[in-house]
Amino acid sequence: MSDAPAPSHAPERPSDLMDKVVSLCKRRGFIFQSAEIYGGFRSTYDYGPLGVNLLRNVKDTWWNAMVQRRTDVVGLDASILSPPAVWEASGHLANFTDPLVDCRQCHQRWRADKIDGVCPSCGSTEFTEARAFNLMFKTHAGPLEDEGAVAYLRPETAQGMFINFMNVIQTTRKKPPFGIAQVGKSFRNEITPQNFVFRTREFEQMEMEFFVPPAEGQQWFEYWLNERYRWYLDLGIPEGQLRLRHHDADELSHYSAATADVEFLFPWGWDELEGIANRTDFDLKAHAAASGERLDYFDPTTNERYVPYVIEPAAGATRTMMAFLLAAYHEDEVGGEARSILRLHPRLAPYQVAVLPLSKKDTLERLTHEVLSALQPHFMCDYDVTQSIGKRYRRQDEVGTPWCVTIDFDSLEDRAVTVRDRDTTEQERVPIADLVAVIQRRMDGA
Ligand code: GAP
Repeated sequence: MSDAPAPSHAPERPSDLMDKVVSLCKRRGFIFQSAEIYGGFRSTYDYGPLGVNLLRNVKDTWWNAMVQRRTDVVGLDASILSPPAVWEASGHLANFTDPLVDCRQCHQRWRADKIDGVCPSCGSTEFTEARAFNLMFKTHAGPLEDEGAVAYLRPETAQGMFINFMNVIQTTRKKPPFGIAQVGKSFRNEITPQNFVFRTREFEQMEMEFFVPPAEGQQWFEYWLNERYRWYLDLGIPEGQLRLRHHDADELSHYSAATADVEFLFPWGWDELEGIANRTDFDLKAHAAASGERLDYFDPTTNERYVPYVIEPAAGATRTMMAFLLAAYHEDEVGGEARSILRLHPRLAPYQVAVLPLSKKDTLERLTHEVLSALQPHFMCDYDVTQSIGKRYRRQDEVGTPWCVTIDFDSLEDRAVTVRDRDTTEQERVPIADLVAVIQRRMDGA
């Protein structure tokens, strides 16, 4: 029977897509519940051997597009712990709150703006008055737990870039328009974390603050909307599952002149992957006023000093990883057998290549290691020698490995191997000497 996939008659997205992806994540080592052996710690997750590769690839691909391929954006890695002064000036201490209510019947706590007046647990419509609940995690730095030692875990990476604005200008000689990019963990004490890694208390962000002359704000806002929307499409999110949604005037934060979200069609409906905002000069002015330091730019060509406007594309790395998994999950049939497959973009896949010797016999061992040593400097490789070759192909399809390299007994004679494509299941005999170049060409063309 042919190994080619039969045309799928299944609906594009299985109705239980979310359950299937969550179960795959656990079963194949993408994402584990944190502290599972102690009963689990709610809303925190550990990224397993495959998940850590996928998440790293999401972040690297973002960094490649936002920093490496540009001359007008530089990187930063600011601290997670920061003093109250930062969050006082940014407005987070006063305003970074959600309205919290308690159900009078079952005493569960909810975000008032998320429940439409009905308790999702018991159906009651009786609640306490809403009170503002600050989402920042508070801790103490040093041995004393007094007010002077209070510190916060950052709830966004953005402020690290604003407060380092002058350091970056002075050390890199960049001038607006230019950006500072950062990838890292952020923490929010979400009242209702939910939907797997969509909303968690500890998560990773990929943010960039692009500083521009104020008059160019709108034009750069539109530029970054298009760039960011295209990034998701280029990495394989189907057009029908991605949209840009502009915020209405009454949705805008007080500092924002314009905001739009990149949204993905999650199994529960459209929801945010990334916000792109024209934050005006709000942040630099707020930190300049609070710190007494100058945070502006003197343009020697016009002899003018001004506070740049900031255009901010702010994405979630962990949330985006989940969207890539949901978009990639498919079921089809190969050789009369059902298979589940992650059609991940090769740059995102946890492994680009799986090296599979046809037999466990020692005869193939040396050549297998030769092939692995040739591939490993260039690609993340898996190595699997257990079970039948058909089963091993399915296991690799299920975790999204785009190419399987099979070493058989002929390989000892002709010094060639078989390269099998995940999506088409087509196989090509390739000389070992050309293997890296052939796979690199396929990666580049993907
Ligand atoms: N500096 C602007 C900022 O932080 P945001 O819309 O609050 O904006 C940006 O966050 C992105 O971070 C969101 O679009 C989302 O992808 C991600 N994000 C925010 N809160 C999250 C959470 N609790 N869990 C997972 N990702 C989150």
